[in-house]
Amino acid sequence: MTTLTWPLMLTCTLWTAWAAADGKEADSAIETSLLAGSCYGCHAATRGQQGVMPDLWQLSVEQVSARLTDYQRGDREATVMSRIASGYSEREIERLANYFGRATP
Ligand code: HEC
Repeated sequence: MTTLTWPLMLTCTLWTAWAAADGKEADSAIETSLLAGSCYGCHAATRGQQGVMPDLWQLSVEQVSARLTDYQRGDREATVMSRIASGYSEREIERLANYFGRATP
C-alpha cells in the first residue's frame, strides 16, 4: 500500500459516512456516479483495470446488489464491506448495482 492510498481510502470512507448521515438518497445519474466515487479508493474506477481488490465491473447487477445486501445483514464475510454497505439504503444499493453491474456475469 502506498502512503497516498490510506489517506484516499480514509477520505472515501468518511465521505461515505457523511453521505449516509445526511439522510438524503442519491436520485440523479450524477449523484449515482458520486455515490460510486466513494468506492474507487479501493475498487477499480473503470472497467478493465486489474488490481488486488474485487473487480466490481465483472459482476452482474444482481451479484452487486446481493453481495451489498449480504454485507449489510452480516451474511457475507467481510473485513470492511459490512461497515461500508451499512451506510446505504436499498434504493442506493440498487443504483450502485445498476452502475457497476453488467447485464450478464
Ligand atoms: C476501504 C476499501 C473499500 C471501499 C471504500 C469499498 N470497498 Fe467493496 N470491498 C473491499 C474489500 C476489502 C472487499 C472484500 C470483502 C471484505 O473483506 O470486506 C470488497 C468487496 C466488495 C464486493 C464483493 C465483490 C466480490 O467479487 O465478491 C462488492 C459488491 C463491493 N465491495 C462493493 C463496493 C461498493 C459498491 C463500494 C462503494 C459504495 C465499495 N465496495 C467500497 C473494500 C472496499
